[in-house]
Amino acid sequence: MDKGALLRAAISAMEYAYAKYSNFRVGAALLTKSGKIFTGCNIENSSYSAAICAERVAFAKAVSQGEKEFVALAIVNSSDDFAYPCGICRQFMSEFGLDLKLFIFNGKETREHTLKELLPFAFTEFKANI
Ligand code: THU
Repeated sequence: MDKGALLRAAISAMEYAYAKYSNFRVGAALLTKSGKIFTGCNIENSSYSAAICAERVAFAKAVSQGEKEFVALAIVNSSDDFAYPCGICRQFMSEFGLDLKLFIFNGKETREHTLKELLPFAFTEFKANI
């Protein structure tokens, strides 16, 4: 896996961030098992809670084009700190596997985690007790 290429894709995607309310720009790049990269940026809204994170945009683009198996996700942001995925994104991404590798870049260093580390005891499937 070309981690550098994935990080560069996330940095390019961050250019498109629509972050006029928070001014906090995020870019994500998702590598599929089939070797494709899908990118995302955060997209904010005047009704603040309607914003969507870069991670979910990347996943939505990939899944809506037939991809369901993912290897790694790179996440970058416009501050000099690490931006970890929010709780909604953790849950959203968990649907497609907890072994996903996460590369979180602060502009200098990359931290590596699995989604399982960020979402222990994940809720995976509802089984009706009927
Ligand atoms: N945001 C992301 O895109 N990804 C994250 O991991 C955390 C937060 C966005 C949502 C919102 O547009 C802005 O960052 C501030 O919360």
